[in-house]
Amino acid sequence: MADLAGQSLIMAGEGWADYGLVDSGGGRKLERYGLYRFIRPEPQALWSPRFAQWNADGEFVPGSDEEGGGRWQFARKVPAEGWPLAWNDVRFTAQCTPFRHLGFFPDMAPVWEWMRERLSPLPLAGGVGGGPGSGAVPAPSPSRKREGAMSTLNLFGYTGVGTLALSRCGPVTHVDASKKSVAQARENAALSGMAERPIRWLVDDAAKFAAREVRRGNRYDGIILDPPKFGRGPANETWRLEEGLASLITDCRRLLDANSRFLFLTVYAVRMSSLALAGLLAEHFADLPGTIEHGELAIAEEGEASRLLPTAIFARWSGD
Ligand SMILES: C[S@@+](CC[C@H](N)C(=O)[O-])C[C@H]1O[C@@H](n2cnc3c(N)ncnc32)[C@H](O)[C@@H]1O
Repeated sequence: MADLAGQSLIMAGEGWADYGLVDSGGGRKLERYGLYRFIRPEPQALWSPRFAQWNADGEFVPGSDEEGGGRWQFARKVPAEGWPLAWNDVRFTAQCTPFRHLGFFPDMAPVWEWMRERLSPLPLAGGVGGGPGSGAVPAPSPSRKREGAMSTLNLFGYTGVGTLALSRCGPVTHVDASKKSVAQARENAALSGMAERPIRWLVDDAAKFAAREVRRGNRYDGIILDPPKFGRGPANETWRLEEGLASLITDCRRLLDANSRFLFLTVYAVRMSSLALAGLLAEHFADLPGTIEHGELAIAEEGEASRLLPTAIFARWSGD
């Protein structure tokens, strides 16, 4: 019953006070993260840069194909322990990580907005359900009553900016295999004054967790998943996107129902089309009302003659 939209979409994110794509080209990009500017490799920036000079505080220099990895080279001092940034009501720590990332994924901003629009925000004081200091985090009940609070699941949640963005709408379950990322996510919650919100912070293998939730008969109002091409679970479980995605989507479908609002799937760094992701959702959401859309995530450069830099592909189901 879910209709598959014919046209593919572009969800383009604009810069905001604490983040912007200043320029791109020649296989690289120049971005600002608060007070600091960084150059990182960007194979999709096939065009020429707009500006002759790129004045950056640091650059991530990739290693040779053999050695892989790479390292940061700094032109000026950048706080190694990180520095605070914000997106809307969410505060978090940006940091130059060994994996060329900066502690969050700015291209996810239009996704956080889209999800929040589908969920009704709550007049949040100290959080949902238990109120300030309760700390009681209700697991999403099979027969949940829709008392305004909407429960969401963030699989592969990393440092939790998406989780905190969703937490204004109700309980969130945050799952990531990395103890370090989940610890950083909890610190970001404290930084945002959201430590009291009903969020379950789980260090777990995403596929295993989803299968367990199906066995428990739990239901969610929304699910976001942003799986890497390859990853390891906390007990060394192996995640390979092409092998594991179909069964993970099967389980995610079982955690949603006709009253649910959305499932949002993003995929990056793989040779795959958003049409393929849409086809997978169309198979598994055929028995639910709603719409399936797909396309690309992109970031718009700031200023004149702005170009769109593609970053990932996506497919999403939204309930009626
Ligand atoms: C690209 S990041 C996700 C970014 C996140 N969506 C965000 O916007 O901040 C991929 C995440 O998947 C996690 N991961 C890798 N393998 C995993 C697995 N088997 N189970 C759960 N998380 C895993 C990594 O620790 C990493 O945080």
